[in-house]
Amino acid sequence: MPIPISRKSILDMAAAKRDGRRFTMATAYDWPSAKLVDAAGIDCVLVGDSVAMVVAGRSSTIPATLEQMIYHGEIVTRASEQSLVVVDLPFPLQHLGVSKAIEACARLMKETGCQAIKLEGTAGQADVIKGIVSAGIPVIGHVGLRPQAVHQLGGYRMQKNADAIMIDAKAAADAGAFAVLLECIPAFVAASITQALAVPTIGIGAGPHCDGQVLVFHDLVGLSFDRVPKFVRPYADVQKVIHEALVQWRSDVERGDFPGPKETLG
Ligand code: KIV
Repeated sequence: MPIPISRKSILDMAAAKRDGRRFTMATAYDWPSAKLVDAAGIDCVLVGDSVAMVVAGRSSTIPATLEQMIYHGEIVTRASEQSLVVVDLPFPLQHLGVSKAIEACARLMKETGCQAIKLEGTAGQADVIKGIVSAGIPVIGHVGLRPQAVHQLGGYRMQKNADAIMIDAKAAADAGAFAVLLECIPAFVAASITQALAVPTIGIGAGPHCDGQVLVFHDLVGLSFDRVPKFVRPYADVQKVIHEALVQWRSDVERGDFPGPKETLG
């Protein structure tokens, strides 16, 4: 009899911090990526607005829409059995006031079945986080490099203002975020934020001292076509494997070697 698998919850993230156990989060956007992330035992799956870049080939995350996040979020939630599913709130919904943000998060929760929302922001979005959390929706705050603000930040560059990042991270935690994601900041800043916050930190390009680590699926497995950030360690070259398979199949068809007797019905 198979052992029933229960899905991870935000309490498991809190317990990981309390017990000093590092946890993992990877992005997924569709059935195969969600199945693979889930089967690998990765604690959280993030339906990131990076879908606009790695899936749709856009140059930033800004074009991602609420409808697209719902579409991808619903697929990922349905495909995953044990990972905590987090869906990104797309730009600019956290800047349109508390009630519009709650409305958008509620749609994400109701229409995808996800367990939590992530939103980018500074201390200026603390009241929005507070409102969403008071509606019963778990939130991860995203500080440091905020890709939705790429044009304001002058590019995808490391954020070095330690004081400002600490203020933003504390504001998110104080407002009720159950975790804070730290993107592209110096390791020593991430270390002091991780020490200062009672809630877990999740790092990407933020060094080894965060409570958890997150990477974009396509970067992690070698499926990204654009420049991969320096902080990524590619664990596979899936692009090469797929390329070789496609070239081999084309060549087999052209040579009359596919389909062969085994692939011919009747
Ligand atoms: O959208 C995304 O994939 C993200 C990661 C960079 C953490 O926010």
